[in-house]
Amino acid sequence: MLSFRINKGICTFLTFSFLIIILWSCNNSKNTERTSTSYPNGGSELAWLMRDATDQMEAQKKAILNGDSINKLLLDVNHILTAVPTEEGKTTSPAYQAMAKQFLEHVGQQEQIPLEGQVEFYNATISQCINCHESQCPGPNVRIKKLYILE
Ligand code: HEC
Repeated sequence: MLSFRINKGICTFLTFSFLIIILWSCNNSKNTERTSTSYPNGGSELAWLMRDATDQMEAQKKAILNGDSINKLLLDVNHILTAVPTEEGKTTSPAYQAMAKQFLEHVGQQEQIPLEGQVEFYNATISQCINCHESQCPGPNVRIKKLYILE
């Protein structure tokens, strides 16, 4: 009788732990696939990196037009060489790798740009976005071109 009660206790305990683990992992998996109202179909790691980069460039443009420094609104494209693209093999070509490396080198200077050099530096960043997109993914260029600061 005593062993029956212990068994029942263990059983209840295990059932509860199991339920908690399931609920917990369900909650977690909701966070791994990013979706938003502007992009209801989700997207690859590289697509999200690019969307974030576009938002960050918009924020930089706004700051520059307000006369503020971009030093606190840094563009983060650190994973551009390794982020998983929608189309397999898209990022492994020598052309992509070369342009991505050149882009990283350019972006690496962003913290040292003085206020008076910001527009030129910012527009050079946009030119590099466009340059890679011309051969690798032309669609977004319509939108990217609108990011230029015209003086
Ligand atoms: C080295 C090449 C390269 C550079 C530099 C680059 N992109 Fe991209 N971009 C790509 C590729 C490839 C894709 C397709 C990603 C995918 O579908 O996985 C893409 C996709 C995009 C998309 C579409 C994302 C979506 O919703 O599917 C936008 C917008 C974008 N890039 C903006 C930018 C902006 C802004 C910059 C500059 C700050 C930039 N890109 C720089 C190669 C590049």
